[in-house]
Amino acid sequence: MTGSAFGSPARRVAVAVGPAVLLLAGLGFAGAMHPGAAVVVAVAAVAGAFWLVRPPPPPDAVAKPLPAPSPATLQAVLEGIPDPLIVLNGAREIIAVNGAASESFGIGSLGRDLALSLRHPEVLAAVETAVAGGSSSTTEITLPAPVPRTFALHVAVLGEENGPGSAPAAAPRVVLVLRDETRAKRAERSRADFVTNASHELRSPLSALIGFIETLRGPASEDVAARERFLTIMQSEAQRMARLVEDLMSLSRVEINEHVLPRHRVGVADVLAAVADALAGRAEKRQMTIRLTCPADLPPVLGEADQLTQVFHNLVDNALKYGRAGTTVEIVAAFVERMPGTPSGALRIAISDAGDGIDTLHLPRLTERFYRADAGRARRLGGTGLGLAIVKHIVNRHRGQLTISSRIGEGSTFTVFLPALAPPVGDARQGVGGPADVIKP
Ligand SMILES: Nc1ncnc2c1ncn2[C@@H]1O[C@H](COP(=O)(O)OP(=O)(O)OP(=O)(O)O)[C@@H](O)[C@H]1O
Ligand SMILES: [Mg+2]
Repeated sequence: MTGSAFGSPARRVAVAVGPAVLLLAGLGFAGAMHPGAAVVVAVAAVAGAFWLVRPPPPPDAVAKPLPAPSPATLQAVLEGIPDPLIVLNGAREIIAVNGAASESFGIGSLGRDLALSLRHPEVLAAVETAVAGGSSSTTEITLPAPVPRTFALHVAVLGEENGPGSAPAAAPRVVLVLRDETRAKRAERSRADFVTNASHELRSPLSALIGFIETLRGPASEDVAARERFLTIMQSEAQRMARLVEDLMSLSRVEINEHVLPRHRVGVADVLAAVADALAGRAEKRQMTIRLTCPADLPPVLGEADQLTQVFHNLVDNALKYGRAGTTVEIVAAFVERMPGTPSGALRIAISDAGDGIDTLHLPRLTERFYRADAGRARRLGGTGLGLAIVKHIVNRHRGQLTISSRIGEGSTFTVFLPALAPPVGDARQGVGGPADVIKP
């Protein structure tokens, strides 16, 4: 039985050792005691704290004193806390920090006023209240530089024995712990944006439909030519709504299963051939061709064939949509020894078009839902703006990678890496991971 009011053994040690470290730091820093005496007192405090929080001994066990931890162990305890932690004395000076705090807030040396490292009015106000004998508190703060980050700030006041007037100003007085909540906040905002965007995307074709219905029932009721024209537009708007709903459902299905590894053996060569066949008609309409280069011994991947088909269908569809009429869309598949950033072999499938290209500015955001590099053109071409978001989630689910490189006036290459099940036996092998000028979204 290891449980207690303080949780796991590691946590109990942290709880036991923390006050002793602070005491030691405070006394040493304050010069309130002879250094030798300070060490003795601190060691006694550590031992006492350990004794207080030790697990209850089995009935027959003989109590053995725990060895006092060394200063290095005490610092390791602080370093074991992943959130930035800062200890202040009553004069608001920093007397101890862990690595996360030095890294996040650039705290170099101890003994300086907190305001020199963390110049945030709410942080300073919370510390002032704590130092003046107030209670512990939790506040949400946003630090603007270098990139805006949101933290939950916990300010803990150390016990009564360190209260104002009862200890030198240099003794440990306040502990600050800052938990980075930026990612959670971003996710929250992105959910809210998503609902707004989806409603907006549905609203425009819907208002077009309502407008045309009103016109057809009123002023254009007898105009046969106008009716024909309006009905054609209405049909394409209704189809756009249907596509949007279908894509939204597809995206949500993919997201729900993103953490579940696909378990089927899939031959990517067959998937690519099927996609090239399915889109040949669309290519022909734009006087374009699709050229597929794929070695015969390309190894299989663990995947879901339908989803991989959707990935390559969306990418080739984009290449046809945004490529110039009369050009060729290239699909080139190969085995590479290493997927970028990993030691494992992978399949690299690059889809290149000769289109207008995409400004570098847009590349990092291209896989966000409803993000369009050229909004007017993409909508005219019937896009919902969800194709690449779906691609990204499916590739994530397959533990793969998507990279995009593009040159204005020349065209774009979308490259998908998928972990290979086995190395190939023949000529599909290539050492290189991918093109150099790649931006990963
Ligand atoms: N090959 C490409 N060349 C140039 N721009 C591209 C290319 N592929 C994507 N884009 C840009 O990225 C944006 C997002 O692409 P995405 O496939 O997600 O949406 P879409 O094509 O507009 O709509 P759909 O959901 O119908 O695919 C597009 O609107 C377009 O601006
Ligand atoms: Mg698309």
